[in-house]
Amino acid sequence: MSAIGVGLVGWGTVGCGVVQTLRENADVIEKRLGRPLVLRRVADLDIERARPVPVPRELLTTRVEDILEDPEVRIVIELIGGLGFAKEVIRRAIESGKDVVTANKALLAHHGNELFEVARRHGRTIGFEASVGGGIPLIKSLREGLAGNRIETIYGILNGTGNYILTRMTEAGLSFEAALKEAQAKGYAEANPALDVEGVDTAHKLAIASALSFGAPVQFEDVYTEGITRIDPLDIQFGEEFGYQLKLLAIASHSDGRVEMRVHPTLIPRNHVLASVKGAYNAVHIRGNAVGNIMLYGMGAGMMPTGSAVVGDLVDLARDILGGTPQRIPSLAFQPECLNRIPIRPMEEVSTCYYFRFAALDRPGVLSRIAGILGDNHISIAAVTQKGRKVEGAVPIVMVTHEAVERNVRKALEEIDRLDVVMAPTQIIRIEELATDGNV
Ligand code: HSE
Repeated sequence: MSAIGVGLVGWGTVGCGVVQTLRENADVIEKRLGRPLVLRRVADLDIERARPVPVPRELLTTRVEDILEDPEVRIVIELIGGLGFAKEVIRRAIESGKDVVTANKALLAHHGNELFEVARRHGRTIGFEASVGGGIPLIKSLREGLAGNRIETIYGILNGTGNYILTRMTEAGLSFEAALKEAQAKGYAEANPALDVEGVDTAHKLAIASALSFGAPVQFEDVYTEGITRIDPLDIQFGEEFGYQLKLLAIASHSDGRVEMRVHPTLIPRNHVLASVKGAYNAVHIRGNAVGNIMLYGMGAGMMPTGSAVVGDLVDLARDILGGTPQRIPSLAFQPECLNRIPIRPMEEVSTCYYFRFAALDRPGVLSRIAGILGDNHISIAAVTQKGRKVEGAVPIVMVTHEAVERNVRKALEEIDRLDVVMAPTQIIRIEELATDGNV
């Protein structure tokens, strides 16, 4: 029985997970596929550095051509990362008649539409399960399991590093920097961790998941993105006092012919299922009009979980190669000719609840001036607390609002931050009052 040959480009953390999974699980993979899946070559610029998972010397090469020009390689795994060379490798692999598996969400967010079109023209397939949610089979769920649904909302924790940092800051009182170092040591972070902590990695993933959900091309430029770098441990504590947990949330919803796509630190009810997602775990809560609510949960980053997703794609693609049915499933879940850009609801028109932390002088009348400006801008206060008392200097005044429109909030805060009794820019965190009875 002839084997299906695969070539790996990029022998990093995830590459090691792929090598180990193919090696350890070769027997079950062969039973599922009906023939062996064999790693024929591993290309990397640096083949001397020791890795946690070794590769036999004769498989190693520094020349990507050794993979692209090998007729026995039917599927190329791109795990280089970045936008430049990775894109070239994928394009050349497809043009050489090979299928591709990638974990490169940044590349797909920026150039996915173009690459999927190249693959379509050449009758080849790009698998990208590992690009969103690490080991969680989210792409497969959206493209296949939920194909009978109109997807209405997605709430996701999609960045292991960000979730790890917030969890460690909440539970162990670690500083942001110390928690980030831990996440990097565990192999969760991107090569450039700014992508994790500034919310960009989450936005890449949300753009991909939204395209699959709403029948649109990838619209990364339309995702509103804020990260967790401005979060103070104080806000985590105050949030807890009001009954909330702080998460870096990816939110997409489709209503009235428009889509909201936003990534920002979000306070959610402490007893909602997403609040219990800790460390490098990811979770995605999806509502479909037929299925109702479902939640997918698992390790969102790391060597073996992400390796698992890559190998899952290899098996899928190999099955289609054997069956002579490449492109059986459209890249973005909908037939390419049916993809339409969806109008986006601008952030200023989004309506949600808010947490404000004002740094105000502790003097009579201060609270009423702030409340007055909020009232003038149609923002209704749900709860307020002031911590500590200082004769000189600012005290934190924390407020939680009812639902308000972002445009009004921005206008009110501009005015409040100009008051002579307000000593620093107001901290603002959006709140999602997710229902805790299972209905989001
Ligand atoms: N840096 C990413 C994360 C890796 O922390 O989730 C998985 O995409």
